[in-house]
Amino acid sequence: MTILGISGSLSMQSKTELVIQKALEFASGQDESIHTDLITLSNSDLVFCDGRNPDSYTGDTRTALDKIADADALIVGSPIYRGTYSGAFKNLFDLIPNDALKGKVVGIIATGGSDHHYLSIEHQFKPLFGYFNAYTVPGGVYASNRHFTEGTLTDEGVIIRLKNLAEETVRLSVRLNQTYKGPDQPVIKREALIES
Ligand SMILES: Cc1cc2nc3c(=O)[nH]c(=O)nc-3n(C[C@H](O)[C@H](O)[C@H](O)COP(=O)(O)O)c2cc1C
Repeated sequence: MTILGISGSLSMQSKTELVIQKALEFASGQDESIHTDLITLSNSDLVFCDGRNPDSYTGDTRTALDKIADADALIVGSPIYRGTYSGAFKNLFDLIPNDALKGKVVGIIATGGSDHHYLSIEHQFKPLFGYFNAYTVPGGVYASNRHFTEGTLTDEGVIIRLKNLAEETVRLSVRLNQTYKGPDQPVIKREALIES
């Protein structure tokens, strides 16, 4: 099983990346058959989504889309910018094909300057993954500045929640095995634009 981490921060000393790495360590520590990989947007030269067929992207964008397609489950995280995930994070999910996450389990992490936006996991991140018919792990992990000391994650509560998130991501992924038998999105016919 491959669990792919995705960090939506462009910062070179990213707290988001740090907590995702911790979660991935907990995931791979469970069983030697569990492999992990990480896409960091600070190290990936992704283009902006321009609406083209996702098959035609190349370079780092292609690599990221292929890694997402090949992953069994994801642990994603983003810094909170203006009360929600970063624009760079959203761009990656604009780039992927509509069916790229269908039936995949997604664990969610957010980091913020303060605790004000912890509910953004429920109200901002989860609807994005709902669009893709992915299974989001109930709950999520939110880490704010007060959980770090000199660039290190030191809050025991957050560390335990990361462990729980990683274990639940693996457990649900094994049980669900990327199958989705729920309702598909409705087919909504595109109306031709009427020229005035
Ligand atoms: C443009 C910008 C907007 C931000 N908006 C918020 C916000 O709305 N709420 C919040 O708690 N923190 C906000 N922050 C703080 C970041 O979310 C926080 O520092 C985060 O941990 C940075 O993660 P990183 O180190 O992975 O880049 C903002 C930071 C920036 C640069």
